[in-house]
Amino acid sequence: MNRNLILIGFMGAGKTTVGHAFAKKNRVLFVDTDQMIEESAGMSIAEIFEYRGEAAFRQEETEALKTLLKRPAGTVISVGGGLPMREENRELLKKLGLVVYLRVEVDTVLLRLEGDQSRPLLSGGDAKARVESLLAQRSPVYQEASHLVIDVDLKDVDGVVLELEERMESVS
Ligand code: S3P
Repeated sequence: MNRNLILIGFMGAGKTTVGHAFAKKNRVLFVDTDQMIEESAGMSIAEIFEYRGEAAFRQEETEALKTLLKRPAGTVISVGGGLPMREENRELLKKLGLVVYLRVEVDTVLLRLEGDQSRPLLSGGDAKARVESLLAQRSPVYQEASHLVIDVDLKDVDGVVLELEERMESVS
């Protein structure tokens, strides 16, 4: 793989799981921006939101992309669901490589993330309403930020990886 593959999409779309599986199968490196940020902060995402605030987290996301731009290409990168919302980040994403939007429906998100405590934006209150409004706001942005869109509902990880491999060829 001579360029990076970047996976974007909503929480629960499977960016990290699919990215990891793709990287293992194709013997390339895998990085996840949330993990990079957690490692450098020495805290979980939930703790960063609680003690430093969302704005600080969003700044760390931009820094993570800048760090990745300095590394050699050929890596699978999954990014946090909110990262493409910053225009600067969308520009950095396109510079980084091929951007693929893993698109997911509200019901799939709710099913997959039921009981999840690690995502501060979904904790407490009416999760369904929150997912609906965030997804409505974000989906056009994800679309605009990506070169390819893959629907992931009802597909298992291997199925998404296969589709990714096939579709990547068509745009390379
Ligand atoms: C967020 C998504 C999370 C994480 C943080 C904020 C968001 O990543 O970055 O909780 O704004 O959608 P995942 O998309 O990997 O869950």
